[in-house]
Amino acid sequence: MRAGDKLDYIKAEGLKKEYPGRTAALKGLNFRLSKKISTVLGHNGAGKTTLLRILSTQLLPSSGRASVLGLDINDDAQEIRERIVSIPQESDALEVLTPYEHLEMYLSARGIGTREASASIDSALKTVGLYAARDHTANTLSGGMKRKIFVAMALASNADLTFLDEPTTGLDPVSRMEVWSAIKKLRGGVILTTHYLEEAKFLADEVMILNSGRLIAKGEINSLLKPYRHLVRIDGIMEGRKSFRIGDIMISYLGDKAALAYMKKGYQPKQLDLEDLFVLGALK
Ligand SMILES: Nc1ncnc2c1ncn2[C@@H]1O[C@H](COP(=O)(O)OP(=O)(O)O)[C@@H](O)[C@H]1O
Ligand SMILES: [Mg+2]
Repeated sequence: MRAGDKLDYIKAEGLKKEYPGRTAALKGLNFRLSKKISTVLGHNGAGKTTLLRILSTQLLPSSGRASVLGLDINDDAQEIRERIVSIPQESDALEVLTPYEHLEMYLSARGIGTREASASIDSALKTVGLYAARDHTANTLSGGMKRKIFVAMALASNADLTFLDEPTTGLDPVSRMEVWSAIKKLRGGVILTTHYLEEAKFLADEVMILNSGRLIAKGEINSLLKPYRHLVRIDGIMEGRKSFRIGDIMISYLGDKAALAYMKKGYQPKQLDLEDLFVLGALK
């Protein structure tokens, strides 16, 4: 990589993973990620965790190649580990430790001594809004505060790239927003997985959508929506070829003219959004 070239956080070529006796979890992924925050979106079982574990050098692919920060996951694993932070799915705070102690322990595991660590710990705890609670044991903290400890770990490590596997699953809406704003404060690149569309919309400069181990779409949400920009969505009616009944819910996608007639009847058209790509079957 020459100076001035745009850095790819991730580059993957033909990445496959087969767990013994199962259908492949990743079926040959080719992609690059270079935006500040990228989101890997997909249902349970789509292959998100497998992908993150491979990229953070915790799991070997069955075949294919990938580089992280320009470094090869097979040949340069140690160097990658020194430059990334990886927060696994369902990371949970230890009840008897304080936020400060969590970060102290984590930085010490990364080879950063207590004295040196103290300023970056305080600064990270301030950034995520945990400073006032720095000496409270985790069992007295809310779910959102506990998850923010992990984002603070990434902040204090000053990593070039942070992987977060479903950082907000199971949190209430307010706690999720707290974690989202903490994630926005990370210095380097961020790659996070989620199955919440609104999380991808709020955080991501770029989304990649996995379905059963295959990459079915990748890009900025606005670019993915471009082919549909002549349409608006109206709920509660079935009209035209692009209309869908999902359970008892009716959704129609109409051009301006047809939409106008419904507006006169009091219907409110909406701009299309990420979820509409799923409804339209654009992302199966
Ligand atoms: N350690 C494992 N051994 C065998 N199969 C696994 C293992 N981990 C994941 N799988 C399977 O691989 C597929 C992808 O799983 P995973 O990467 O955890 O998806 P996601 O994180 O998107 O829910 C699933 O079918 C899952 O059952
Ligand atoms: Mg997972």
